[in-house]
Amino acid sequence: MANIIELAGVTKTYKLGDETLNALDGVNLKIQSGDFVAITGPSGSGKSTLANIISGLDRPTKGSVVIDGRDLERLSDRKLSDYRNRHVGYVFQSFNLQGTQTALENVMLPMYFAKARPKERKLRAKECLEAVGLGDRLKHKPGQLSGGQRQRVAIARALALKPDLIIADEPTGNLDSARGEEIIKLLKDLNRQGITLIIITHELNIARQAFKIIQIHDGKVRISS
Ligand SMILES: Nc1ncnc2c1ncn2[C@@H]1O[C@H](COP(=O)(O)OP(=O)(O)OP(=O)(O)O)[C@@H](O)[C@H]1O
Ligand SMILES: [Mg+2]
Repeated sequence: MANIIELAGVTKTYKLGDETLNALDGVNLKIQSGDFVAITGPSGSGKSTLANIISGLDRPTKGSVVIDGRDLERLSDRKLSDYRNRHVGYVFQSFNLQGTQTALENVMLPMYFAKARPKERKLRAKECLEAVGLGDRLKHKPGQLSGGQRQRVAIARALALKPDLIIADEPTGNLDSARGEEIIKLLKDLNRQGITLIIITHELNIARQAFKIIQIHDGKVRISS
């Protein structure tokens, strides 16, 4: 399997006043195409920062990120966002759904930004919501959905542009364990269909299901198996 993601010496430094903080500190990492990787670690250890960098939402202060043979450092901001649109589905820790829009409209949104044709947007959004078991909730707004259903809308939205990598940041963080297990099953099914999967989680029983667990502590990768 090819490495689709390679991080070398990745450091992310935040400056607040005269204090500096290394949210990530010299991270080396390889993730292969088709892999299922769990990233675990305590709150504040740098998991979301790492996810942002892997997905191209953010750039490291130091070090290199090579994804799919592309050195992200060499990509302009526009090329980087193109790359992200085309290849990465990001499921945010806090869902980031638009409260005033229906489930269908939320899933259509990335296709709007990618300038897909309106008719195609609607068809694909329906298809994605059906794939996560929400075919009967197209017109519900986030406030009219349960936490697990909102999480599934966020996953459907991540699927809209047919990514080959999905990064899910605490996808079960707001759910009870039965609902959480359903979400994990859904993500694992996508992985079985060939999508590379990275799940960030506090929960050991979820991390254990991955092919590989990456533990992060104070911005450093401690154990990787
Ligand atoms: N924009 C920012 N400016 C300054 N510091 C930041 C910024 N974003 C994150 N941090 C700090 O970087 C560290 C890592 O944050 P990050 O969000 O990656 O943690 P996390 O492991 O995802 O935590 P959680 O499990 O609570 O989601 C934290 O100490 C946080 O306070
Ligand atoms: Mg986080």
